[in-house]
Amino acid sequence: MRKQIAAANWKMNLTYQQGEALLSDILEERIKLTPDQEVIFAVPFPYLIITNSQVSREKNYFAAAQNCSDKKSGAYTGEISVEMLKSISVKYCVIGHSERREYFSETNQSLEQKVALCIEQEITPIFCCGEPLAIREAGTQNGYVETQLKESLFSLSAAQVSKTVIAYEPIWAIGTGRTATTEQAQEMHAFIRSVLDSKYGKDVSESISILYGGSVKAGNAKELFECADVDGGLVGGASLIAKDFIQIIRALK
Ligand code: PGA
Repeated sequence: MRKQIAAANWKMNLTYQQGEALLSDILEERIKLTPDQEVIFAVPFPYLIITNSQVSREKNYFAAAQNCSDKKSGAYTGEISVEMLKSISVKYCVIGHSERREYFSETNQSLEQKVALCIEQEITPIFCCGEPLAIREAGTQNGYVETQLKESLFSLSAAQVSKTVIAYEPIWAIGTGRTATTEQAQEMHAFIRSVLDSKYGKDVSESISILYGGSVKAGNAKELFECADVDGGLVGGASLIAKDFIQIIRALK
């Protein structure tokens, strides 16, 4: 079975103290995960070392970075390299979130670099894709997402791409309270899998976890996660509320 993942994306929210309280409330639930389930906390950089040590007490709980540099190392003041993340045992890194694409001018090409660096350092990239509202309204979302996948992932070998996680996050659903319907989510996830299938074959496409993101809430997680090609969620707002995220973890297949 593919890994089923509940990933929290804290974005630029919570002080260290608030984050620590939230994390302990969630960990205190001691939700037992099956070997195929994982819970990931994508926290701000300064919290990574401590979050990693807190979650390591529970099986299949991990910390993730929200971003990394597309450069290997050197004179790039303020940047964080993948090698640095590796050196503090970070296992996952969110790559190409739509907010980074929009506000920090990240392109499919720069994201291709980031994905490659993550793979090289054995950090699993959680590669985000998804279309803006105008594209959805024009009905051209499949082509749009296919281009994102092709330009950022297709230079990887089959063995390398198998080590990625994909998050489909329609931009019109992020932080808007407007979730994709289960039909819209399933349709796009199946499409993404078919794109991977045509390039890499069924063994690879069937093994990659594809998360849904965009207004996942305690109340809609179960029906979304029940879709055949939805392997969990990347959760923003609702991951900041302990009881909601706990319910989302419990909704995993
Ligand atoms: P949201 O954010 O759950 O608040 O819509 C999801 C995300 O941006 O990853």
